[in-house]
Amino acid sequence: MEILGFDRLNTAQLADAARILRDALAPMTNSFGGTGVAEAEAASFLGNPERAAYAAIENGKVLGWIGLVFTYDHGWEIHPLAVDPKFQRRGIGTALIHEMERLARAAKVCTLYAGSDDEMAGTNVSGRDLFADIAKYIADLDVTNGHPLVFYRKLGFVVVGLMPDVNGPGKPDIILAKRVS
Ligand SMILES: CC(C)(COP(=O)(O)OP(=O)(O)OC[C@H]1O[C@@H](n2cnc3c(N)ncnc32)[C@H](O)[C@@H]1OP(=O)(O)O)[C@@H](O)C(=O)NCCC(=O)NCCS
Repeated sequence: MEILGFDRLNTAQLADAARILRDALAPMTNSFGGTGVAEAEAASFLGNPERAAYAAIENGKVLGWIGLVFTYDHGWEIHPLAVDPKFQRRGIGTALIHEMERLARAAKVCTLYAGSDDEMAGTNVSGRDLFADIAKYIADLDVTNGHPLVFYRKLGFVVVGLMPDVNGPGKPDIILAKRVS
């Protein structure tokens, strides 16, 4: 498997990246389900100095991809991250994160972070009034139903925040971060 920047992908591979985004996120959010939405998201990483994306490729086939948004001088956001459902749990997501960590260190970036929405009641902060005691909800946060928090924690990310109700009442965004250099 190799990891290539989007500028090195052909049209068919870029179309596949958009499909993977739609398919991988479908169980968790409607955000990329609309016609052309996933395609527009993938295209937003091309020729954009504020963003970059990388695909995991094997025998010419896209298995998954990851985006970076250069939000701070020393902090980059991971957005989005999607592995083709047919190829999940084979270390592809891990390889993509590790490559972003390498790029971040090379650019003297200190922190990588990601927002991981809970729209599917996948954690114990779903359906809660988080403003009531946000620090306690962060301290006690755990997965109840297949949320990718498990994946991020395994890779050393920690929960640094909760953004209450941003996907609708009781549907927060979970903010995870990792020191990389
Ligand atoms: C989350 C995602 C990127 C992980 O990619 P992946 O290639 O399947 O992950 P890896 O194989 O590298 O998994 C590494 C470890 O993370 C954990 N993990 C990954 N997916 C998991 C799941 N669905 N449930 C529980 N643990 C999981 C496991 O500990 C796994 O190690 P193991 O297989 O040895 O037990 C992928 O499942 C995906 O695209 N999901 C849908 C989209 C998504 O959630 N994106 C992130 C939103 S911010």
